[in-house]
Amino acid sequence: IQWYPGHMNKARNQLEDKMNLIDVVVEVLDARIPIASRNPMIAELVGDKPHLIVLNKADLADPVMTKLWQKALMGPKTSVMAMDGKHNTNMQALIHLIKRAGQDKVQKLQEKGAATPTIRIALVGVPNCGKSTIINRLVGHNVAITGDKPGVTKGQSWLKTQHGIQILDTPGILWPKFDDQAVGYKLAAFGAIKDTIFHADDVALFVIAQMRQYYPAYLAKFANTSKEALENISDTDLLLAMTQNNGMRDDYDRFANFMLLRLRKGKLGRITLDRPNHDN
Ligand code: GTP
Repeated sequence: IQWYPGHMNKARNQLEDKMNLIDVVVEVLDARIPIASRNPMIAELVGDKPHLIVLNKADLADPVMTKLWQKALMGPKTSVMAMDGKHNTNMQALIHLIKRAGQDKVQKLQEKGAATPTIRIALVGVPNCGKSTIINRLVGHNVAITGDKPGVTKGQSWLKTQHGIQILDTPGILWPKFDDQAVGYKLAAFGAIKDTIFHADDVALFVIAQMRQYYPAYLAKFANTSKEALENISDTDLLLAMTQNNGMRDDYDRFANFMLLRLRKGKLGRITLDRPNHDN
């Protein structure tokens, strides 16, 4: 399956080249899929630099799980925070954590006599996790392209902020192979990989199975049925029933796309599909 566009490969190489200029790596994850939206190459890329994990889109994620993930992802050189870039929550906390992570660098610059020391950061993350949105918030006005489609950010440049922070804008990176199809489905479900890579009905079936396990009440509500009734129907029959109930006859694909759009917007409920202790 073709799902690793060439420009992402190029982006990774460019990022590797610029890593020695970066003081703090800000890794933006989708709070609904903190593991699936993690790039396995990140550890290598970060090395022993200070590292900040941002669980973005926390407004759409299950708040209980977000709390658990904040603890689970913390490390000696890694701090973790949750935010909602779109509605600008926790921006001050983000700036504070970046400054804390970059304090060694600032001290070094001050010792060298710099009057206005600057922390240089890179935001990295899969497409659509909210990098551009957060960059725009940090800069204070719209500088990077924000869009719903994966892979919108293509350029790379230094952006200035009023907080003593400069940002390297980088395109999202996905990993070259997926060994685990569930990871691919999760990324597709939340719009991090293009809709054309999987059939929408396969992704919807995956989501139904996950919701049955973790969020049966939300699934019942969306399907307009009871939790008990759900237990007696297979995933495929449920998909068919929902398709018909929504007046789409047997057009699974159309219904699946509708369902995924609702999911992405949080209209099925605040859902997190990666669980600490289970999937990792
Ligand atoms: P690429 O350019 O594809 O790499 O995407 P990106 O990571 O820069 O994501 P971008 O900032 O373009 O955001 C993608 C979509 O998610 C946009 O429609 C944003 O408005 C939305 N978005 C970003 N952050 C949040 C958030 O915290 N909560 C919600 N609800 N939506 C968000």
